[in-house]
Amino acid sequence: MASATILPLDSVAYGGDYNPEQWDAETFERDLELMRAAGVNLVSLGIFSWASLEPTEGTYDLDWLAAIIDRLHAAGISVDLATGTASPPVWMARRYPQSLPVTREGVRLEFGSRQQYSPSSSVYRRASAALAGVLAQRFGDHPGVVMWHVNNEYGCHVSECFGEESRAAFRSWLQDRYQTIEALNEAWGTAFWSQRYADFAEVEPPATMPTLHNPSQLLDWRRFNNHQLLGCLLGEIESIRAHSDRPITTNFMGAFPPLDYVQWAQHLDIVSDDHYPDPARPSGAWDVAWQSDLMRGLGDGRPFLLMEQTTDAVQWRTRNSPKRPGQYELWSLQRVAHGADGILQFQWRQSRRGAETFHGGMVPHAGRAGRTWPAVVGLGETLGRLGPVVGARTEAQVAVLVDCQSNWALQAAIGPASEETDFAGAKAWHRTWWELGYAVDVVGTAADLTGYRVVVVPQIFIEDAELARRLTEFVAGGGQVIVTARSFVVDPTMAAVLGGYLGSLRELLGVRVTDVVAATGTPANDGENVAGYVEEPLTPVHRISTAVRTPGGCDVTGVDVVDEDLARAVRDLTGAAEDGLPVAGGRWAEVLAPAGDPAYDYDSGAAARSRETGVDVLARFTAEGGGADLAGLPAITRASHGSGSAYYVATDLDPVGRAGLATLVAQRGAVAPVLADLPEGVEAQRRGEHLFVLNHGDEQVVVPGVTGLDLTTGEHLDGELTLPARTARVVEPTPASPTSEPASAPLTSALPSR
Ligand code: GAL
Repeated sequence: MASATILPLDSVAYGGDYNPEQWDAETFERDLELMRAAGVNLVSLGIFSWASLEPTEGTYDLDWLAAIIDRLHAAGISVDLATGTASPPVWMARRYPQSLPVTREGVRLEFGSRQQYSPSSSVYRRASAALAGVLAQRFGDHPGVVMWHVNNEYGCHVSECFGEESRAAFRSWLQDRYQTIEALNEAWGTAFWSQRYADFAEVEPPATMPTLHNPSQLLDWRRFNNHQLLGCLLGEIESIRAHSDRPITTNFMGAFPPLDYVQWAQHLDIVSDDHYPDPARPSGAWDVAWQSDLMRGLGDGRPFLLMEQTTDAVQWRTRNSPKRPGQYELWSLQRVAHGADGILQFQWRQSRRGAETFHGGMVPHAGRAGRTWPAVVGLGETLGRLGPVVGARTEAQVAVLVDCQSNWALQAAIGPASEETDFAGAKAWHRTWWELGYAVDVVGTAADLTGYRVVVVPQIFIEDAELARRLTEFVAGGGQVIVTARSFVVDPTMAAVLGGYLGSLRELLGVRVTDVVAATGTPANDGENVAGYVEEPLTPVHRISTAVRTPGGCDVTGVDVVDEDLARAVRDLTGAAEDGLPVAGGRWAEVLAPAGDPAYDYDSGAAARSRETGVDVLARFTAEGGGADLAGLPAITRASHGSGSAYYVATDLDPVGRAGLATLVAQRGAVAPVLADLPEGVEAQRRGEHLFVLNHGDEQVVVPGVTGLDLTTGEHLDGELTLPARTARVVEPTPASPTSEPASAPLTSALPSR
């Protein structure tokens, strides 16, 4: 077996999904020329080709694919070979209708779109693993095939199935997990609402029910579905590994809620990502940063591949804004800055027919006319100059933790406020650090914390005693930790933590949560007892109601900053006056008590240091907004342990509050932004020794303090960089200028050699 552990590319990978089977032979010839002209060096082949590869059950036709791979290879274009298993052919649906997925409502999903398979279908699993094996046997050591692309976006359209085979699989998964039905009853709390089971045979998935589900059952269902889809991936990996040693990936979709990618990434040689940020949103650039930092984190800091993006617009939003001029290259270089070693698009040639006819492509309907093609060629040229960057690491001193299981648990919890969005805390805190100009890693809760100065623990809903132990150690070593509301509220079975939330973190934080006040926000008229009653606007004749003060109608909870350093940080960021700092909390607010003393009443004085706990209060709730019953209680606390500190934020702090706190914490943790004094709209990232400077704004800017060789233009910069709107530069320090970390090994050299 040939050993190929390094992508044989001398620069950043560039190309996209390629579907030559949808076109004629003449177009294929033209494609080869155009690919060369655009600097394409890698294409993903066969992603949706199952029907052409196995036209009838068990009969494989691989010759057409072999011819294409050979021609691409001869043209110097490498192949990321897909196993083609994301869309089974019609014969499977007709011969084995039980392989089709069934929705929660019992509807069987028909053939004629894509991804119509149940993750638990034994027929699908057998056939997909077989196809992967047949492909690996034939092409596993083809010199043109440099990596494997298993399936496509697992779970994107179908992440759960309620069919018979899935239900049986769920039962046997539960049996493995709990061993006895008594253990399941205990974990699911079935004493509640008379839900006790006598036998595993009686257990069903959480299908449509009269009213609220059992949250523990919901959480286990999500775990099960993740496990089933992961099983599909592992089945294909096993088949490939019998014949091929090439690196393997499957394309992720950012923080895709149904799947625990932290777990999945452990099984991949290369993490890859599909990402379609909306150019119509000002947060588009943050989205690129967030998702890239997550992908790098999933791969323990190793470079990743952007497997899919669009050159221009997608077709699946209600309104499909195109990228602004320059944005295709800008966001691509931004991803390289954050650790991507490959920029690939969906897709090479814009479709002529089918559901994606109007989705952008590298070769659009207009061909070389129009604005896409020059942008495609331009990016190819730029990426071609970035060979020196390949393999380098993007280092960060700030880590934001993500925990997919906690996200599931938060979604499965019923109340106290049922309007949680996925990974909201992690996203909010990541954005805060990114907007302020710091490099950030997004990593799982089991990640090694060595080397970080600041760790943010946002809404880690499931108590994790081991994490608490490691955070305590981190703070003891001088680290700064920020824990936010909704953390450590339930155990892994969804049973509430008793004695005040925060459980095993109480000691580190010096506080615990005794009450949650989540009743603010406009009262919804959806409660069963008020169904159909629309609240009347109050008038003087509402003699009694006008005297009732409720936090209803308030989307914020007032917060008063009482710590002088925090107040200064907020003033410096916003230019606000001494009084009335523009900081507020959200709809969720918690009442804190000292970790050890139930009777302790917080001092209401400014920045009071608790006599008994040593906890500083940095901000307090006010009676403003929804805070009527919270006034004076602590909203942000800090427990100091030597030079380390543990902050607790008892509400969904607004962006200004988060930025102020992050600035204060950065100062105490001695963490600096990537570059100081950046103009508005400008991001800087360091990858190995290279400095990326990206102007996301609409104005040309001058960035001070940049010296070195601009790889993108070949120009030498001496202390100043002029950057037009929506452009980016990659600067290599000249020997005299200071360097940072040396480049590490290229993308795949970290892979096991076989
Ligand atoms: C992805 C998918 C591609 C294509 C693309 C369109 O979800 O993997 O095949 O459909 O979306 O944006």
